[in-house]
Amino acid sequence: MEKEFEGKVVFVTGSGRGLGRAIADRFAELGADVAIHDLSWTSPAKYGEAADLGEAAAAIARSGVRCVAVEGNIGDRGAIEAMAAKIHAELGPVDVLVNCAGGDIGAAGGKPNPNNALDISEEDIRTLTNNNLIGTMLVCQVFCKPMVERGSGAVVNIASAAAHFGTSPEVVYSSLKAAVVHYTRCLAAELRPHGVRVNAVSPGPTKTARFVNTRVVDPAMMTAGKSLVRYGEPAEIADAVVFLAGPRARFIHGQVLRVDGGMTLYAG
Ligand SMILES: NC(=O)c1ccc[n+]([C@@H]2O[C@H](COP(=O)([O-])OP(=O)(O)OC[C@H]3O[C@@H](n4cnc5c(N)ncnc54)[C@H](O)[C@@H]3O)[C@@H](O)[C@H]2O)c1
Repeated sequence: MEKEFEGKVVFVTGSGRGLGRAIADRFAELGADVAIHDLSWTSPAKYGEAADLGEAAAAIARSGVRCVAVEGNIGDRGAIEAMAAKIHAELGPVDVLVNCAGGDIGAAGGKPNPNNALDISEEDIRTLTNNNLIGTMLVCQVFCKPMVERGSGAVVNIASAAAHFGTSPEVVYSSLKAAVVHYTRCLAAELRPHGVRVNAVSPGPTKTARFVNTRVVDPAMMTAGKSLVRYGEPAEIADAVVFLAGPRARFIHGQVLRVDGGMTLYAG
């Protein structure tokens, strides 16, 4: 396999588990040194994917790359600066940033309930905004400035298919992911002269451990026959992310790629 990212340093937020972990694994397969991250050291254990961040990092390092693990809330600038210092000291400057941390997880830990526009609690609105929008913006502030100084880098923000159509419930989550898509365009406008590319991926429903453990899944959507009417595989999202972060996407900037098997076949 071509080691397209050999010599590059990649930081994936929310990569102790789920989609972020699949993305980190893919970059490591392609030769990148990888910094993984989660809210806490034991967050990867929540749905049984790894005992902790140390175990996840050791598994990634077995593919022959360097891997460091950092933890902390992406809504806390001090925590992000500490992550950046550790990654820089152990791996060097970050070439690729993937903002994957987030999700429809409210203040109490599960999905907000109620989760519609008129009834969702203010506490859940603030938690979702921290996890999906403020966190993404703060991580970009800390990690993109050194990219601008070096005149190179790539950012991929993970939004959602839910960002692209009106929906209830999941109103606040969907609105925040739409904001992530538009933030991607605005950041792209700002960084265009500096050679730092910024794009987004909007996954459709994808079979992460959290996804299958927090809902009643449709068995007909779980299998991968010829039909595209199914849930996505985490590796299918990871393939889109490495494409946008890599050299074959060198003139693609400010775009959002919907990776949902055609679930959202309309403009915008
Ligand atoms: N799985 C899907 O169907 C799907 C579809 C569309 C978009 N997404 C998006 O993909 C991303 C990953 O989702 P997933 O399915 O792997 O879920 P997941 O819950 O397994 O992963 C999310 C990760 O982000 C971390 N995180 C959340 N808030 C954080 C914060 N404030 N600070 C630090 N870490 C934080 C969590 O601890 C977790 O590790 C999310 O942004 C989600 O919105 C997922």
